[in-house]
Amino acid sequence: MWDQAENLRKMVQGSTIKKRSSVIKANAANARVITITSGKGGVGKTNFTVNLALALAKLGQKVLIIDADLGMGNVDLVLGCSARYSILDLLEGGFSLVDIITDGPLGIKFMSGGSGIYNLANLNELQLTSIVNKIALLDDLADVILIDTGAGINKSVMNFVLAADEVIIVTTPEPAAITDAYGMMKTFANQSGSSALRLVINRVIEAEEGKIAADKLTKASLKFLGLPISSLGFVYEDSNLIKAVKKQIPLLLAFPNTSSTRCIEQIANRLLVRNSTEKKEGVKVFFNKLLRLMQ
Ligand SMILES: Nc1ncnc2c1ncn2[C@@H]1O[C@H](COP(=O)(O)OP(=O)(O)OP(=O)(O)O)[C@@H](O)[C@H]1O
Ligand SMILES: [Mg+2]
Repeated sequence: MWDQAENLRKMVQGSTIKKRSSVIKANAANARVITITSGKGGVGKTNFTVNLALALAKLGQKVLIIDADLGMGNVDLVLGCSARYSILDLLEGGFSLVDIITDGPLGIKFMSGGSGIYNLANLNELQLTSIVNKIALLDDLADVILIDTGAGINKSVMNFVLAADEVIIVTTPEPAAITDAYGMMKTFANQSGSSALRLVINRVIEAEEGKIAADKLTKASLKFLGLPISSLGFVYEDSNLIKAVKKQIPLLLAFPNTSSTRCIEQIANRLLVRNSTEKKEGVKVFFNKLLRLMQ
């Protein structure tokens, strides 16, 4: 068992150590930009983001993760993959897009927003245009872009929510997490958000518990906020996820057959089915919206 874990660690680290990303080829269509958020902190956003990325990669998608958890980002720890540069280096360091993208396992790519994203609000028009034009090339590199946000319903998180094509709200079935997830939906509705909202219930003990929590939230959202939100399903509470976190090996690689892995793979499948009817505005529109919201 230990040997297997060690081999996996080597496999993950070997393929990810501060290596410049190779250019990847994706479908001609714009990338799907999906923000992952919650309301309450610590509900499992980052682990879900990383493992969803791997599940989508297994289904043949080119996936890029952007860590937009300003200050507290830990996608690198969960992914076992560190980024040396962030988005602002596109400007200050004169790097190209490929320079700031790091390779992760199963061909997924990782980009750190870090404080770089925050500082974008202070750039002048010329600098903004230059950075957006460079970032826009992501449409050629990725089919799906997953953006992991920090905890809370503050302005910097909301900007990523409002600018994305799609938003996945992660919650656990606990009352405090449900209340905060609803708070996120309410803020979204008050700010006239137009992104497609989806819901994932994490750390579910029994399937019924997941269904009840999802039902409660989707019905309340429609009834009191007039906001349709579709459920993508649930993820089981799984001690293997905690083991994977400790080993710094993503769950999907460390435990490919465990209950929570299967749940995340089902969610990835559902996301791809939904894809056929969704309009993808792409990276350029996303970043232009984001920068406008930051002003
Ligand atoms: N399905 C699960 N089963 C068991 N434990 C889980 C599950 N999902 C998450 N956890 C536990 O919750 C911890 C926090 O997860 P994670 O860091 O992904 O949350 P987060 O929402 O990104 O937190 P933050 O709001 O601080 O960014 C994990 O380290 C793990 O211990
Ligand atoms: Mg997190």
